[in-house]
Amino acid sequence: MVSLKEENICKEAKMLLENMTLEEKIGQLVQYGRLKEAELQKLEAGKIGSFLNVAGADKVNKLQEKAMKSKNPIPLIIGDDVIHGYKTIFPIPLGESCSWDLKLIEETSEIAAEEASTEGINCIFAPMIDITRDPRWGRVAEGTGEDVFLASQIARAKIRGIQSNKWNDRPYVTACPKHFIAYGAAEGGRDYSAVDVSERCLRETYLPPFTAALDEGAYTIMCSFNDLNGIPSSANKFILRKILRQELGFEGLVISDWESIEELIYHGIAKDKKEASLKSIEAGVDIDMHSGSYEEHIHALIDEGKLDKELLDEAVLRILKVKIALNLFNNTYTDTSLSKKVIRSTKNVEKALEAARKSIVLLKNKDCLLPLNKNIKSIGVIGPLAEDKVNPLGCWALKGEPKQVTTVLEGIKHKLKSETAVYYEKGCNINSDLEGGIDRALELAKKVEKVVLVLGESSDMSGENHNRAYIGIPEAQKKLLKALHSENIPVVLVLMNGRPLTLTWEEENIPAIIEAWHLGDESGNAIADVIFGDYNPSGKLTMSFPRCEGQIPVYYNKKNTGRPNFKKYLDVEETPLYPFGYGLSYTQFNYKNIKLSSKKIKQDEKLTITAEIENVGKIAGDEIVQLYIRDMVASITRPIKELKGFKRVHLDPGECKEIKFEITAKELGFYDEYFNFVVEKGDFKVWIGPNSIQGLKENFEVI
Ligand code: BGC
Repeated sequence: MVSLKEENICKEAKMLLENMTLEEKIGQLVQYGRLKEAELQKLEAGKIGSFLNVAGADKVNKLQEKAMKSKNPIPLIIGDDVIHGYKTIFPIPLGESCSWDLKLIEETSEIAAEEASTEGINCIFAPMIDITRDPRWGRVAEGTGEDVFLASQIARAKIRGIQSNKWNDRPYVTACPKHFIAYGAAEGGRDYSAVDVSERCLRETYLPPFTAALDEGAYTIMCSFNDLNGIPSSANKFILRKILRQELGFEGLVISDWESIEELIYHGIAKDKKEASLKSIEAGVDIDMHSGSYEEHIHALIDEGKLDKELLDEAVLRILKVKIALNLFNNTYTDTSLSKKVIRSTKNVEKALEAARKSIVLLKNKDCLLPLNKNIKSIGVIGPLAEDKVNPLGCWALKGEPKQVTTVLEGIKHKLKSETAVYYEKGCNINSDLEGGIDRALELAKKVEKVVLVLGESSDMSGENHNRAYIGIPEAQKKLLKALHSENIPVVLVLMNGRPLTLTWEEENIPAIIEAWHLGDESGNAIADVIFGDYNPSGKLTMSFPRCEGQIPVYYNKKNTGRPNFKKYLDVEETPLYPFGYGLSYTQFNYKNIKLSSKKIKQDEKLTITAEIENVGKIAGDEIVQLYIRDMVASITRPIKELKGFKRVHLDPGECKEIKFEITAKELGFYDEYFNFVVEKGDFKVWIGPNSIQGLKENFEVI
């Protein structure tokens, strides 16, 4: 993608601006998410610069045509929430992050953007790169978990994918990383709640994924709904002007979240939409998503001398530059025949299967109950999600179609020979009992050789403002699970959900647990592949699973405290049930021979750390090898572990590979007391291991 700093782009944008009336300039800041007669008329008069929630090449072309027929023709930005696939639905982002496979993530993002582009969309409201440590928050499903390093790498991969733009016959697509910033720190996991985080926490935890996304070339960014330390993001000059523009040098455009400008009134920092508009535009929000505030009030604010014209011009210039860079002026329209060729092509659906398989995390497999043998004579598939085609799509699968989803029941049937008896019983609903359901499930379970139970959350139990205070398996389903357990039936538990769940009872009592998230179109096929061993599970958790809600937040990279050995709760362990980075395989990996290129490095030197990983089991598998460090003594307290590298490696049985990581001293740095980035001398620990709590350890010193 071309840089927005390019001279040609700046020149062209300035020329356009010079010929625009005040009304036309304001129009560029206006975005609507509805399309009624009023909007169409405004469009013809040059009073709307972008839309969202409008798709289809034909429909969008007609809108573009209207925009281009106005006195001063400027094409439209067409935004859309393409969160985990457009019409080919991939796993929810939290699930896909468990693949730790950056190439795959880039590819699925590219497919999503390519499909969307054939329907006239040129701005994708993704990736969501809000770090979060609270699984009660419904939007954990849309993100990449709790870790800063991993989220930053994934942010880069997603921006590369979304903006790969390998065509010349239609508008390009820009990513719109969101939500700037610290939205994932909502109090109590309650969406839209206030966020109060220190500047250190903001810079160390919430900012890095955005820095990475902008460094990768995203043209747009969306600010968040939340109040941040007393000033909602949509009016927050410190984050939008100082950090984003001055420090990060962002040249692209900032778009508000849905009606977040008007919401400044309800936050209590603006008395009306006019004051809200002034605060937002002064803070640097360029586009008003759907609230109508800018449209109604910017003109008057300028006439009354309250708003500096320069600020308006700057905002319009940024929007024009993005439109030029997206090639919208030369390639305004989209060929209506394209979507048929691109959308849900065989290659895209195959990628969805690969992504679904790699997102699955095997949480428990007592006595190698899994994989099941395909030669079994009978199997019972039980549970409210076993035959479900809607919920596996997950939240924000706006254009997903249930008919494209393979259920677990179908996936299992495809796998087995026709003579195998496959029985199904729902047992209960997702959130309520089903009369006689448990009895029928028990009867079925007793007559079959193996039982697969598919439980979890519906897709609307996560996502925007779909928070939960209790994050266990819903009660009705738990009853079913306990009923099967009380009859000593060994169950393979498959979980579909949009967040980490509390699974303490399940871990103690159920022999095999597969975390399958909401995996999208290929859910059933991928899960059946894992159940019968056609795919050896390789995913690793990107968010810690708490033992109970009272432990939240629980995350691996916490601080040591002055009393690390004191018991933190009287009634529960401090550690999570399943830690960050955890996941099992059907084979076993042995870690040995950790080596450092040197025990001492200078502040401008590199350190090479190697270890050997051997597949000591009987089948081939992928292992996600993780590198963690700890700065032992620094001028600022540092986390007890920080992820600094990872590699996915394939190993045949008996195969042993040396895995090499390189870290520069710069990667060991942090912000000092005065927020200068420093690399301090001193002792470090380093681990190479299979998750955040195990691993081979070594020491080195920065001199
Ligand atoms: C969400 C954004 C989304 C926007 C447009 C808002 O409610 O917070 O993530 O992009 O709606 O649909």
